[in-house]
Amino acid sequence: MTQTRTIGVVTTGGDAPGMNAAIRAVTRVAYSKGLQVIGFERGWEGLINNNFRRLTPRSVGGIIQLGGTILHTARCPEFKTPEGIRKAANTVNEHNMCGLVVIGGDGSFRGALELSKNSHAKMVGIPATIDNDVYGTDETIGFDTAVNTAVAEIDKIRDTAISHERIFIVEVMGRQRGFLAITVGITVGAEIIIVPENKCELDQVIETLKRNASKGKKAGIVVAAEGCGKISDLAKQIEEETDSEVRLTILGYVQRGGSPTARSRLLASLFAEKAVELLEEGSGNYAVGLQNGKIACIPLEESCNGKKRLDPKMLALADMLSI
Ligand code: F6P
Repeated sequence: MTQTRTIGVVTTGGDAPGMNAAIRAVTRVAYSKGLQVIGFERGWEGLINNNFRRLTPRSVGGIIQLGGTILHTARCPEFKTPEGIRKAANTVNEHNMCGLVVIGGDGSFRGALELSKNSHAKMVGIPATIDNDVYGTDETIGFDTAVNTAVAEIDKIRDTAISHERIFIVEVMGRQRGFLAITVGITVGAEIIIVPENKCELDQVIETLKRNASKGKKAGIVVAAEGCGKISDLAKQIEEETDSEVRLTILGYVQRGGSPTARSRLLASLFAEKAVELLEEGSGNYAVGLQNGKIACIPLEESCNGKKRLDPKMLALADMLSI
């Protein structure tokens, strides 16, 4: 009698809208191919403590529209230790899983790579983070939702900016990268966009705002990525150096929550299909992604070692559009 093959699925690192759509699609595609699925709870913690639940096509019903992750997630320092990796590898081996789908960002992919060196199971990474900073994919699950959330909030802020002729500095997430900031900045029509990849000097910011004011453009939105340092200091300095009233809004975790957009859900479903296909055919240690409009994959190691570039053309476009 042939034994039913099992794959695992885990969401790790920061949650991203669309993770549930990915869990659902992994489960349903796997079942349609005759594979069973177990979901590990609270990210790597679930693998370390062998804390899991069986996922079935029915148990993942009604979650496609939910933000967050039904499997929960956590930052897990123990997983960074040899002991933590050993425990997680034991769990993988115990379940005799033929593969593990890891849904998360670049940190999650690095963890998966480490685990692959210590266990029999093949790993496949599905990129999911609002930061969109995973090498090997043009877009990550959750990014589109986070952009739309930020845009909706900043559009509201602009009403007050215009009415009071104020400058608003809006800090968006993105860790040390500016993908979220540049996309949000362009799509809200920000006067200035500050990203870690292109540190702009305070003098430059002041000069631009003064020039705008002299042209009669007294209201303004400055979108700054959180990785650019203490944005509250920047806001204070701008207020001191210009005649403008300056306010700071930190969007924070609202960007990570909420119902995923259709685009995030679709990407999650397509990535999940590819991930399960890879495991079913016995391939592993890949990161799936979107490359030039097509679902593709690259070796997990390449994704972990690569650094995704912020397109300089986006920065140039932002400049042209903000005159
Ligand atoms: O990686 C996603 C992200 O939301 C970053 O944009 C942010 O810097 C970080 O996670 C916050 O992490 P935590 O949830 O651990 O506070």
